[in-house]
Amino acid sequence: MRIFITKPIIESGIEILRSAGHEVNVHQGEKGITKEELYSAAKESDALITMLSDKIDEEFLEKNSHLLVIANYAVGFNNIDIEAAKRLAIPVANTPDVLTHATAELAFALLLSSARRITEAHNSIASNNWKGWEPMGFLGQSLANKTLGIFGAGRIGQSFAKMCQGAFDMDVLYTSRTEKNDFPAKRVSFDELVEKSDIISVHCDLNATTMGKFNREIFKKMKSSSIFINTARGEIHNEVDLHWALTHGEVWGAGLDVTNPEPMSADSPLLKLPNVTITPHIGSATLKARSEMSDLVATNILKGLLKEKLLTPVY
Ligand code: DGY
Repeated sequence: MRIFITKPIIESGIEILRSAGHEVNVHQGEKGITKEELYSAAKESDALITMLSDKIDEEFLEKNSHLLVIANYAVGFNNIDIEAAKRLAIPVANTPDVLTHATAELAFALLLSSARRITEAHNSIASNNWKGWEPMGFLGQSLANKTLGIFGAGRIGQSFAKMCQGAFDMDVLYTSRTEKNDFPAKRVSFDELVEKSDIISVHCDLNATTMGKFNREIFKKMKSSSIFINTARGEIHNEVDLHWALTHGEVWGAGLDVTNPEPMSADSPLLKLPNVTITPHIGSATLKARSEMSDLVATNILKGLLKEKLLTPVY
């Protein structure tokens, strides 16, 4: 059968599919796939491996209801209209677990970078401003014993919280739809999380409730010494409001792996701020995580083609 992949991925998954006798076609090129290219490739394929940047909406699914399975190369699947996929009986898989540690590590890196002003300090050397050791230079924040607020305590949020507890003995607060039994942290209301946390880290899904959740009103309620981290989806914070908060002393610093839109323009005012570190959506970008994601999407595709239960179905 024919499988189409919308961007090149680590070869191991492609090998799994080819060894099972399938034809695999991969979209090549610097630029992402266009809508027309995606529609035309899907028409000729039995299954797709999609990226979080591919818009798999109702119209697309209706026109491609012949697809036997779609495997999204991400844990998040807000790019896919799951209700429409369900209605059309197209199985959809994602890549949970295998990227948990990598994404939590990136959140940890962004936190350290923000707290210790690493981006700002690095840039000062690069712009030839390092004059010598300064007793008052780049005074940052210690992270020991801080209160961490996890917004969305799923796998990644819990993994990040454990890193912060282990390294810095932090107290952890979290919001979640359900109580987490084996998570040594306190479940609180969103208001309490916002008001009491020294660090707020976003790990929830993007949906109608979380879209634009962190806006001017919320940033105003956060501690003025707080650090805001988002490694989930850029649409969960309002970038104009975050810029306002960072320049009006409402929030002390921010670390973002996700922006709105993506890719972020080099002209974004956020990039001009000293107290922000931004990475280009690289949460799962370790060789280990991306290799395991490659194998997992391939295994899901094989299951889907055989009309078997997917390994990691999203519904
Ligand atoms: C995901 O898998 O949803 C992540 O955002 C990718 O890094």
